[in-house]
Formats: sequence, structure tokens, C-alpha cells
Amino acid sequence: MQDLVELSRVCGDISGVKFHHKSDGFVVMSVQTPVCEALVALQGAQVLSWTPTFTGASPHPVIWLSKAAKYVVGKSVRGGVPICWPWFGPHENQANFPSHGFARTETWRLQSIKQDASEEVKMRFTLDFDAAMRAFWSHDTRVDCELTLGRQLHIRLSTHNDGSTAFSLTEALHTYFAVADVRRVRIAGLEGVKFVDKVAQGERRQQVGVVSIAQEVDRVYLHSPSECVIHDEIWRRRIHISKQNSLSTIVWNPWQEKAHKMGDLGEDGYLQMLCVESGNALENAIELAPGAVHDLQVNYRVENL
Ligand code: BG6
Repeated sequence: MQDLVELSRVCGDISGVKFHHKSDGFVVMSVQTPVCEALVALQGAQVLSWTPTFTGASPHPVIWLSKAAKYVVGKSVRGGVPICWPWFGPHENQANFPSHGFARTETWRLQSIKQDASEEVKMRFTLDFDAAMRAFWSHDTRVDCELTLGRQLHIRLSTHNDGSTAFSLTEALHTYFAVADVRRVRIAGLEGVKFVDKVAQGERRQQVGVVSIAQEVDRVYLHSPSECVIHDEIWRRRIHISKQNSLSTIVWNPWQEKAHKMGDLGEDGYLQMLCVESGNALENAIELAPGAVHDLQVNYRVENL
């Protein structure tokens, strides 16, 4: 694992990037550019928060981080953009394997970081497989994550099949968006899309109109590459979610009772967040041939109303 000295060496002279320990062994990077502020954890290559700060930007964070989040090595942090990989949700046939895969709870290696003239900071992480990870996933695989933090947030998760046999994977960028009050937001872009309703024992349904949230919601929308837009009428903004190589969109809010049991969502946290996840789940699993690369990409931008 890289220590603070090694991380600072990789970072060179980028003045707006600092590393510190959030808790024992849990390293985070704070990023400040002329146009945004962000926090990124080495564990999971997880964007923890992102707030555009340029003149005219909405004053609110875009990526939500729970006030009650716990920073414990090996446990996923509640908020930000956890990377669910190489499977989404429970493992297909191994009930004791970690939910949403192992990438979100392993420490990634920072390979490079640079700031360009356009005020963006771009960084690249890779996951070095050890024996424990290989016990979950034996395929010869490389996975990299590239984050571009600026006026917009761009994430690219690349999976390379370096082996000689094909494999199948599911995945998601499990993004928590900050909203003024989840009861007053609408998600456009999923009208008419078929989904699996996990709250209704996996019943298959079809979306009628835009999505609104008034109770627990846990849905996997399938076969939909389209852009989603979160309309937030109180904060008077729209968050545009565009994606590439993703056919599934997962919409999740645990609502009050489940949130309370989770213990890291904070009081009323469920009203202030909404997960709209871009990925490939269930029958949208990716089949990756030997030598092939799959790039899941998302881009988030905010429009003021
Ligand atoms: C969502 C799933 O993506 O993640 C939900 O659809 C799950 O079923 C949620 O509860 C949160 O998962 P976790 O493991 O981060 O608590």
C-alpha cells in the first residue's frame, strides 16, 4: 500500500492536492481546483464528495457524503461513488462473497495525477490483485479507474481481460447524489423502461412517466443507455447523468426504516440523497472476450434553473 510519502511523490507539485489519514490506515485525498472541491479515498478509488465552486455554480455539493459515514478499512463508505465490481449486488452463486464485489473495499494504487490548463485534475488508479481478491475472482483481469474532476465529473472504469478465456461481469458506479429533499425531485430519462423491482421481490415492471420517490425504492432498470436527469426544484438545478457502455440504471433510496438500521446514513440522511447508478447488471452483464477491454463511463454536470 502506498504511504503518504509515496503518494506525495506521485502527485509532484500539484498544490491543490493533499493527502491525509481520515482514520487509522484510511487515506483520503482532498482536491481543490479553481472550479471544484472534492475528496477521494484510496480505498475503492472512491470519489467521496464533489462540489463545483466556479462562479455561478450551485452552492450545494453534487455528490453526497453521509455526515454519519464511517471510515473503516475494509468497509464501504456511505456516500460518494462506490465502485461495485466485478459483480453488482449479491454474488450470483456464492452467498458468502461480499455484496457489490470487492473493489469498493480494497485500496487502489494511485498511478498518476495531473492538472491541466483547463483547471481539471485527472487521476488514474489501478487495483493490484492479491491472493484474497483472487479467491473471489480468478480471471486474469486488470481494472483501472480514471477520475476527471473539474466543472464536470467524469469517471471511467476500464476492465481488461488479460487472460485466455472469456468471462462475464456485472458492475455499477453507485453514485449518491445530493438533493434538497428527495420527495421533491424527479428523475427523467427512464420513462417506459422495464425494471426489476427489488422492493417487490424482483417483480418485473415498466416505468410510467418520470420517477418520483415517496417510499423505499430499489430498482434495476434494464436495456437503457439513455441520459438521466435529476430535477431538483428546491435547489433549482438539474443534474445531468450521461453514460457510455452502460445499459442498466439502478435507482435506490432505503427510506426511513432501513436507513435507521444501516447506522451510517445519518438522521434524515435518506431525504438528502438519491442513488442513480450507472452500470451493467442482471441480464445486462458484460461478456468480455480474451484481450478485450470494456470501458464504463459516466459524466455528471449541473445546470442551474
Ligand atoms: C443498491 C442495491 O445498489 O445498493 C440495494 O440495489 C442495496 O439493494 C444498496 O441495498 C446499498 O448497498 P450497500 O451494500 O452499500 O449497503
